[in-house]
Amino acid sequence: MQIPNYQEAKKRNKQEMLVKTENYILKEDLRNLGKGKTYFVKTYGCQMNEHDGENIKAILEEMSFVECETMEEADLILLNTCAIRENAHNKVFGYLGRVKHLKAERPDVITGICGCMAQEEVVVKEIMQKHKYLDFVFGTHNIHELPMILNNTIETKLQQIQVYSKEGDIIENIPVKRESKYKAWVNIMYGCDKFCTYCIVPYTRGKQRSRNHKDILAEVNCLKQQGYQEVTLLGQNVNAYGKDLNEDYTMENLLEDVALTGIPRVRFVTSHPWDFTDQMIDVIARYDNIMPYIHLPLQSGSSRILKLMGRRYTKESYLELAFKIKEKIKNCSLTTDIIVGFPGETEEDFNETLDIVKQLKYDSAFTFIFSPRIGTPAAAMKDDISLPVKEERLQILNNLVNQYALEANQMYLNQTVKVLLEDVSEKNESMLMGYTDTMKLVNVKADKMYLGKIVDVKITDVKTWSMDGEMLHKEVSIG
Ligand code: SAH
Ligand code: SF4
Ligand code: F3S
Repeated sequence: MQIPNYQEAKKRNKQEMLVKTENYILKEDLRNLGKGKTYFVKTYGCQMNEHDGENIKAILEEMSFVECETMEEADLILLNTCAIRENAHNKVFGYLGRVKHLKAERPDVITGICGCMAQEEVVVKEIMQKHKYLDFVFGTHNIHELPMILNNTIETKLQQIQVYSKEGDIIENIPVKRESKYKAWVNIMYGCDKFCTYCIVPYTRGKQRSRNHKDILAEVNCLKQQGYQEVTLLGQNVNAYGKDLNEDYTMENLLEDVALTGIPRVRFVTSHPWDFTDQMIDVIARYDNIMPYIHLPLQSGSSRILKLMGRRYTKESYLELAFKIKEKIKNCSLTTDIIVGFPGETEEDFNETLDIVKQLKYDSAFTFIFSPRIGTPAAAMKDDISLPVKEERLQILNNLVNQYALEANQMYLNQTVKVLLEDVSEKNESMLMGYTDTMKLVNVKADKMYLGKIVDVKITDVKTWSMDGEMLHKEVSIG
């Protein structure tokens, strides 16, 4: 048994910075462990967790498990969790009620938890005391150990808890079952060293470790050969890529090399304003296949609050960067994340946030009420703003964000844009859906034979969060 420890998770020790890269290997005798059994994996959280979910599914399938549609029919249930805010927690604990019920009905079903919540000391202690029916728990650093953990679960019938707070090495060649045939997530780095005072990620994902660029480029080239149209480079803090490696190769070099593979579309999330260089902006502006879409989390418009958050930039430096991006990258869409109700946030601080939104007119924004996370510095700060005030601020902010989102979309009316058609539309079976290069969701009247293609679409109607369009009958290919 190995349980998580926050003191360990906090450490960033230079001597331990030596990260080894190892290859994933599945032991032959575990290939049939799941024969005749089905699995159901439910993933919460960010794209990185979604991508972990794709790895987990592929590992299970290499062990002969077969995916099924519902938790009720599964022989193995695994919840891949997120810890970012209280409500993410609550959703998982709510779901666990159903899992417990199922386990009581069918004691043979194997149940487990992994992901960021599994890295939390308090959560694991709670599982050991109150959720003894769960068969296994593993964390974000040892997905590759899933076969061994499952095998131990089945052989010993004892609860297996294997969570490391000191991150391991980078494991390459973990198999992946991608959700899409046309767009793919590619990890370029793991962990985060920024320690924004409200955020739990540096504790749940460990120190920053960049993947070797040759491995990243090999993955992108392979995806291109398989016909993928789009890659999204993933990391908590992508523009700090490479800073932990002793090489003269950073995010602008990587972006350029990924663009040069010729894959039609390149995206990346998430950018931290502090690490955004002019060279990066130049590279994005220079290559047509790097999409003009930047997600640049603001968090707050008040320099005082930003300092308390440990964000390392001011209102002024953020604005300068954002305007530079808008000026140099043609037709760039800009989105953001904002937290309201951070401890001590005054009406004036909040107005500074609104001021930035008014100045930059974001294409869209994810907005949150501050949620104290146990073990982070902000959770210990005096929080004297009442919930109704926080909710009111969120509402005011959302109204403003929605107004600008609609205005940004209105600019597209009657324009022709390129859309990667990726699926059948959720709102209308006879339509397809996809995204513009600026990451606008478009529902398109088009034949299914165009799935997976980047096509010209004329926008016929716009709403706040989506647009409608008609495909122009000319196939487009970039690169
Ligand atoms: N690595 C990314 C963000 C990861 S978390 C970055 O640095 O921008 C995604 C978003 O969740 C954050 O940008 C922040 O707005 C929000 N968030 C993180 N911790 C939070 C907390 N404790 N309470 C409320 N929102 C939070
Ligand atoms: Fe969290 Fe800050 Fe790291 Fe983003 S940069 S993951 S907000 S600590
Ligand atoms: Fe959640 Fe972990 Fe992602 S806390 S947002 S799943 S890194």
